[in-house]
Amino acid sequence: MNEMTTVSFTKMKHGTRDDYDLLGRHEAEYAAGTADRLLAQLAKLGDGLSGYKVSRLEHSLQTAARAEADGADIDWVVAALLHDIGDELAPHNHDSFAADIIRPFVRDQVSWVVQHHGIFQMVYYAHHYDRDPEARRKLADHPCYQDAVDFCERWDQSSFDPDYPTPPLEHFASKVREVFARPAWDESVLRKGLREPLVS
Ligand SMILES: [Fe+2]
Ligand SMILES: [Fe+2]
Repeated sequence: MNEMTTVSFTKMKHGTRDDYDLLGRHEAEYAAGTADRLLAQLAKLGDGLSGYKVSRLEHSLQTAARAEADGADIDWVVAALLHDIGDELAPHNHDSFAADIIRPFVRDQVSWVVQHHGIFQMVYYAHHYDRDPEARRKLADHPCYQDAVDFCERWDQSSFDPDYPTPPLEHFASKVREVFARPAWDESVLRKGLREPLVS
């Protein structure tokens, strides 16, 4: 068989089935490295945004550690770890950025909460900027509203404490790998309509 190393085309519309078979194999191999690329990106948050008592990485680790301490399931823990991963690349929509990364691999409930955590967090500080702390009320009819309230209250807003016993990134690596090894967009992964508690 002809061993192709690159495709034959310079315009996508001229590609053959062999070309797209080759690309499909490359894509699958590349996708298998997603978890490790995410862990590497998280590690970079160690020297991001200043002013807080903890780095963005420590905040992320602590948020995930609190989720674990509450007995939350793996979807919650990985979401808690990754919820601010967009801080460097998408500072104005970091919540939906993170939600889109996890959306094919976690329960719908969890990606909804991550997508909207920014507006739910405003209850803690927006008044200091003369903005509406209750802007989240527009989402009040959503079935996962209370989950987002609890995510922010229990895990996110409380995780800026340099004295909290916070494990290193490696502690969460196997959970991240497990979640991103799931079949993307599978119904058994998304489990639409199912709500798992944050605290068990
Ligand atoms: Fe955030
Ligand atoms: Fe956060």
